[in-house]
Amino acid sequence: MNKTLHKVYVASFFIAGIASLILLSWYGYDYYRLPLTERPFSSDHASLKPSGMIGHGLGIIGTLMMAVGVSTYMIRKRVRMFYSWGYLKHWLEFHIFLCTLGPVFVLFHTAFKFGGIVAVSFWSMTAVVLSGFAGRYIYVQIPRSIKGNELSLNEIEDYRRSLDSEIKNTISKSSKLAVRLKLLFDNRDEQTPGVWASLLQPVRDYFFMKRQIHLLKSELDTEKGMAPGARKELIHAIKQRFQLERRNVILRQMQRLFRYWHIFHLPFAITMFVIMIIHVAVTLAFGYKWIF
Ligand code: HEM
Ligand code: HEM
Repeated sequence: MNKTLHKVYVASFFIAGIASLILLSWYGYDYYRLPLTERPFSSDHASLKPSGMIGHGLGIIGTLMMAVGVSTYMIRKRVRMFYSWGYLKHWLEFHIFLCTLGPVFVLFHTAFKFGGIVAVSFWSMTAVVLSGFAGRYIYVQIPRSIKGNELSLNEIEDYRRSLDSEIKNTISKSSKLAVRLKLLFDNRDEQTPGVWASLLQPVRDYFFMKRQIHLLKSELDTEKGMAPGARKELIHAIKQRFQLERRNVILRQMQRLFRYWHIFHLPFAITMFVIMIIHVAVTLAFGYKWIF
């Protein structure tokens, strides 16, 4: 998948997600805001209640989306036969899309009432989604290959060297730029920071880098003879190199946090699915069949 196609791939997830959210809120707003006692008198009750044509359908589609989102990612990540099926990173994006929109559909399926034992499934689902966002934050702090696989220490070193030579080749003549780059690339803290400091560091680094890149761009404007394409590539390489340096400092903490995070994300996912299966079995036993 080239860069443009990847942008279209991610943009289509955003568009589908936001459009569904707007459509569901707009269509059901008058019904969902009614007090529970008044809902049965609404003309929308038959379709939007959890067992209604739309409400029930949203539960089934949302659940299927989560099941597909989890199983495809786990199979691609763990089954050797599928290692060559596209980049893992793209499968994670697909996982995040399905496992964010699926829960939104399930939320509308519940019609915003969270009664009975199935509420445990709902809150587990909420916990998995929230923890998912936290996990994604940690995930992107660990240096990875373009395919999304974690880089080994040797690969990090190789990547650092290749970025260094790319940058050096482009700016060899400018000492002013070299000073700016030293400021960006030099490790400001030698020691690995604690857990909280590590978690906050990417936010601080982001603003530091933004300011330095802004200054660097104005310095580059005074340089003559640099083609726009080369300038763009140089800035990209500098950003990568800065992030690599900073992520290296917190690497151990992030790897440790990510291991703990898996222990948290997975059990909530299992709880959600187990109680959901019981919930579906009970609703089937009560004769709810949707369109089948
Ligand atoms: C994680 C997935 C799901 C969650 C969290 C969930 C949650 C809920 C909740 C909170 C209710 C409302 C309970 C109440 O009235 O207080 C409900 C009702 C219902 N759900 Fe689900 N649901 C899920 C998936 C499904 C699926 C896949 C189906 C169908 C195959 C389904 C079928 C129903 C039906 C038929 C009702 C109405 C039951 C009644 O009115 O007595 N649900 N669900
Ligand atoms: C109901 C929703 C979700 C369920 C059931 C779910 C479930 C899972 C499962 C079972 C795994 C595999 C864990 C493992 O390999 O040990 C996983 C991995 C992951 N999920 Fe989710 N997830 C959900 C939502 C999300 C969301 C909303 C995000 C991000 C915004 C997210 C981000 C991740 C990340 C970053 C990984 C780790 C990838 C890796 O280590 O390779 N998840 N998820």
